[in-house]
Amino acid sequence: MNEVPAIAIRAHGLTKRYANGRVEKTALRDVALAIPAGRFWVVSGPSGSGKTTLLGVLAGMIAPTAGEVELNGRPITHLRDHHRSLVRRNGVGMVFQEFALVAGLSLAENLLLPFVPEGGPPPAVCRQADKLLERFGLAAFARTPVERLSAGERQRAGIIRALLGGAPILLLDEPTASLDTANVQLLVDLLVELRAEGRTLLATTHDLRLVNDPRVDGRLRLVDGAIET
Ligand SMILES: Nc1ncnc2c1ncn2[C@@H]1O[C@H](COP(=O)(O)OP(=O)(O)OP(=O)(O)O)[C@@H](O)[C@H]1O
Ligand SMILES: [Mg+2]
Repeated sequence: MNEVPAIAIRAHGLTKRYANGRVEKTALRDVALAIPAGRFWVVSGPSGSGKTTLLGVLAGMIAPTAGEVELNGRPITHLRDHHRSLVRRNGVGMVFQEFALVAGLSLAENLLLPFVPEGGPPPAVCRQADKLLERFGLAAFARTPVERLSAGERQRAGIIRALLGGAPILLLDEPTASLDTANVQLLVDLLVELRAEGRTLLATTHDLRLVNDPRVDGRLRLVDGAIET
C-alpha cells in the first residue's frame, strides 16, 4: 500500500523571464510546489506577482525559462502552438481570468469551439456539454450569446468548457473576480463537488473570501514571483 498521497501537480525550479525589447521582467523565481491529487489549493498574491504566469506554465501554455512541471507524474513539454489540444492531452482544464469567451457566439458554440480545429466535437463531448449545462443551471442559456450572460453565469461557462474532455486537473485564474459573495459561495460549493469526484483544483486569487474559505485544503502565496515561505 502506498500511503503517500499522489502528487497531481509538481513543479521545481520554475523561473519565467519575459523579454520586452531590452526590458526583462522576471515573473517567476525558482518556484517549487507539490499539490496532492484530489485537493483544492489556492495561490494568492498581489497583482503582478506572477499568478497567471504560474498557471500558464503549469498548463504547458507558457514555456518556462527554467524548471520542470510534472502533471500526474508525467513531465510536460512546452509547445506554444496547439496549446488547447495540448492542454487537453495533458489532462488539464484551464479557466481563464477573463473567461476567454467569444462574443457573438452562443454559450453552446463557445463550449464546443476548442474542438473545431480537430474536426468538430465528438458526439460524446456534445452529450457531456448538455449534461454539464444542466448540472450548472445553464441549460436554458445554451443558445444565448455569451455577452448576455451575467458574471456568475460566464464563470460557470468557463468551468464547463474546462471540464469538457474530462480533465482531472482544473486550473482557475481569479475565479471569483467579478462575483458577489453569494456567487462566491456557489462557486466554492461547485468546486468542492468537483473535488469530491477526485479532481485536483488549483485557483489563483487575491480574494480573501476565497483564500479564507475553510474548504480550501492548501494555500500558497506568491510575492514578486517567489513562493513566500
Ligand atoms: N506576456 C508578457 N510579456 C511581458 N511581461 C509580462 C507578460 N505577461 C505578464 N508579464 C509581467 O509579468 C508579471 C506577472 O504577471 P502575471 O500576469 O503573471 O501577474 P498576476 O499575479 O496574475 O497579476 P493579476 O493579479 O493582476 O492578474 C507582471 O509584472 C506582468 O507585467
Ligand atoms: Mg493574473
